[in-house]
Amino acid sequence: MAGLNQRSRQCSWCQIKEVFPVPEIRPARSSDAPALTQLTRELGYDASQAVISARLMTLLTSERYEILVAEGESGLLGWVVVERRIALEFGERAELTGLVVSSEARRSGVGRGLVTGAENWARRRGLATVFVRADVTREAPHPFYESLGYHREKTQHVYEHKLKRGDPGPGSPRRMPAQSRL
Ligand SMILES: CC(C)(COP(=O)(O)OP(=O)(O)OC[C@H]1O[C@@H](n2cnc3c(N)ncnc32)[C@H](O)[C@@H]1OP(=O)(O)O)[C@@H](O)C(=O)NCCC(=O)NCCS
Repeated sequence: MAGLNQRSRQCSWCQIKEVFPVPEIRPARSSDAPALTQLTRELGYDASQAVISARLMTLLTSERYEILVAEGESGLLGWVVVERRIALEFGERAELTGLVVSSEARRSGVGRGLVTGAENWARRRGLATVFVRADVTREAPHPFYESLGYHREKTQHVYEHKLKRGDPGPGSPRRMPAQSRL
């Protein structure tokens, strides 16, 4: 159910103040799968509902992840996934691995509410840092994260390698010549 508080924004072209009820930020549940599938499409990933349901179950049953949704009067308005990660070089921290707000609900504080919820989850686990990677070709996330106090640390390229079954790949140890195995 939506909260009772309200938030307003100025319409960019008509100068009329629009008023929105503040959505409730809550953990996702398995029954959210249809709405999450729709929202994930808005992020540019066209996975089926069955696939999203299966991924959602993995997220819901592991302590390592939290998936939060924003629920307004008309249904789900957005989701965020936060993951507790460890790396040898920087230790433990939280990463926002996905975030989307429905195009009709943007610029009304929903994204901010979701990120705040994810940060609170990280804080309760004693994590001191939250990081997020944002595609340089997307426009909104950069001013969005900066407005929330995030600073740009670096820009990277992302590499992908599709693995074929049974292919050990170029990085695997080479078979040693017969004489050196003696
Ligand atoms: C990025 C995104 C999640 C922001 O969600 P949102 O609900 O619109 O953001 P909020 O309303 O909470 O914005 C908070 C503040 O961020 C800044 N901001 C958000 N979107 C902005 C934009 N498009 N341009 C400039 N500033 C922006 C503003 O300062 C805003 O405060 P204000 O509206 O009071 O000025 C949303 O645009 C989105 O889903 N985009 C597509 C998917 C995506 O890029 N996901 C991020 C992947 S890392």
